[in-house]
Amino acid sequence: MTIQEAIVKRHSVRQYLDKPIETDIIDELQAMTHQLNKESGLHIQLVTNDPKAFDSTMAHYGKFTNVRNYFAMIGKDDDTLDERLGYYGEQLVLRAQMLGLNTCWVGLSYKKNPDVITVEKGEKLRCVISLGYGANQGYSHKIKTMEKVTKVEGVMPDWFRKGVESALLAPTAINQQKFLFSLKNERQVQAKAGWGFFSKVDLGIVKYHFEVGAGKENFDWIR
Ligand SMILES: Cc1cc2nc3c(=O)[nH]c(=O)nc-3n(C[C@H](O)[C@H](O)[C@H](O)COP(=O)(O)O)c2cc1C
Repeated sequence: MTIQEAIVKRHSVRQYLDKPIETDIIDELQAMTHQLNKESGLHIQLVTNDPKAFDSTMAHYGKFTNVRNYFAMIGKDDDTLDERLGYYGEQLVLRAQMLGLNTCWVGLSYKKNPDVITVEKGEKLRCVISLGYGANQGYSHKIKTMEKVTKVEGVMPDWFRKGVESALLAPTAINQQKFLFSLKNERQVQAKAGWGFFSKVDLGIVKYHFEVGAGKENFDWIR
């Protein structure tokens, strides 16, 4: 499965099979987590075989079942944390999908288990991403129109359209899709988050999707 196919096939999955993830797949995801942490300065941790984080009334209310594996999304608590967690976490989500696994970003319905994660002084556990073999493959979410999430000077280039299409398939908290991609001077792209619950994490996620869809060689990000 290519990363573009993973973007199309991925949906949030909240119910998992009682089936352990193979060691070689865990090893690959651990190695990728270390690599991304090195690149970003984040402290993301892959936790396996911990049923406790999703063993609460809140998790059951959120319809999560059989969650034993997850990425704990941790990093130094500053203004850039949310966007970076989104950008790097979504790389893990798409890789997991390519490896035949399913995921769900979770901002609320989990419980912090200090026995299995390390949150250093000055760091924050912001959210988690559940991971496992889905009991289903999830469902397509409602998608906003291109016009609602873009601002373009002149004609919209093909690469920009593909980038936005890819961003519109991304997970966002409560499917809010509160982002705006603006194109300036032919190849400068600005991505802004609207106001909302976890909207900066969403921004990092959709920026990664945009890069995959548009091709990084076609544009430059501007602030
Ligand atoms: C930052 C973030 C936090 C989320 N938190 C939760 C959550 O607490 N509980 C939940 O069931 N889904 C949560 N989701 C999943 C979204 O509801 C889901 O991505 C959205 O409805 C779009 O559906 P899709 O992922 O299947 O495309 C979260 C998603 C993101 C990106």
